[in-house]
Amino acid sequence: MRAIVAAPDVEPGHRLTDVPEPEPGPDEVLVEVEHVGVNHGEVRHVRAWPAGTVLGHDAVGRVVRAADGGPRVGDRVVALGVGAWAQRAVFRSDAVATVPPEGDVARFAALPTVGLTALRALRDAGPLSGRRVLVTGASGGVGRIAVQLARAGGARVVAVVGAAGRGAGLAELGADEVVVGLGSVAGPVDVVVETVGGAHLVDAWRLLAPGGTLLSVGWASGEPATFPVNSTFAPGASRSLRSVGDVSAPAADLADLVARVRAGALEIPVGWRGSWRRLDEAATALLGRRVAGKVLLDVD
Ligand SMILES: NC(=O)c1ccc[n+]([C@@H]2O[C@H](COP(=O)([O-])OP(=O)(O)OC[C@H]3O[C@@H](n4cnc5c(N)ncnc54)[C@H](OP(=O)(O)O)[C@@H]3O)[C@@H](O)[C@H]2O)c1
Repeated sequence: MRAIVAAPDVEPGHRLTDVPEPEPGPDEVLVEVEHVGVNHGEVRHVRAWPAGTVLGHDAVGRVVRAADGGPRVGDRVVALGVGAWAQRAVFRSDAVATVPPEGDVARFAALPTVGLTALRALRDAGPLSGRRVLVTGASGGVGRIAVQLARAGGARVVAVVGAAGRGAGLAELGADEVVVGLGSVAGPVDVVVETVGGAHLVDAWRLLAPGGTLLSVGWASGEPATFPVNSTFAPGASRSLRSVGDVSAPAADLADLVARVRAGALEIPVGWRGSWRRLDEAATALLGRRVAGKVLLDVD
């Protein structure tokens, strides 16, 4: 079968090639993959994987071999697991959820990693109703989902983007304010979903109200952060900085996200779609900050 594998010896660090068929273990389902999603970290850090590793984590496809208690053969599922960018892939049965047969099912492939990350990050922050939630990198994949989930939780949402054009569509997704740069954010915030790192992390921390929580989700800037001396404590004003990244055993949360999409309460923000043979082009656009949301590839 064909798959996209790590190829550190060539530009751009991956290639579409023939690989052996995967063999599902007892708690795994085998999926005929139809569509895959691309995440920032997967293409930015592609050379971190050993040569030959089948890349990717997010997929939609049909179950061709089932596992006890999981979806049945023929069901279409959205799935999360290493090795998704292949014609066939195995996933743990607790890492898949069925998707509705009707409508555009392809877009669900763009959901697992960013959807679970935003959902679990915001859950960590506690009740959101009436609280002010700041989302950095709001133009991106995690950001566009976080804006919607925070708004659905009753928060007042401030979306921060890098340039005016990057904010397109965010108000429609639920942002009360769309601002360019953290310097334009007025007043304290209760929760931060921070995806950019570097100076954004330091500046967002400064905006956090006493009792607030900063959720460090990512580091899209690739830049280091330097906190001013004494800036991480203040008498009588505790604040939390939490790292977020647990996407284990996601079946129930994937089903929750799918249900929100079906109910029209969550939009999957696909900003680029094409053949998986165009991964390099898509990755260049994503890392060049020219994609409004997610990259979706068709396994054609
Ligand atoms: N913890 C986890 O499990 C987890 C899960 C998913 C993602 N992540 C991480 O979270 C971060 C965001 O992921 P994502 O999928 O939302 O990525 P994305 O779609 O590429 O969005 C990242 C956003 O960051 C902003 N940005 C600011 N400086 C940037 C720079 N130098 N290069 C690129 N983008 C820059 C861009 O917004 P503007 O163009 O508006 O400035 C961009 O839209 C990444 O670091 C990713 O690895 C972590």
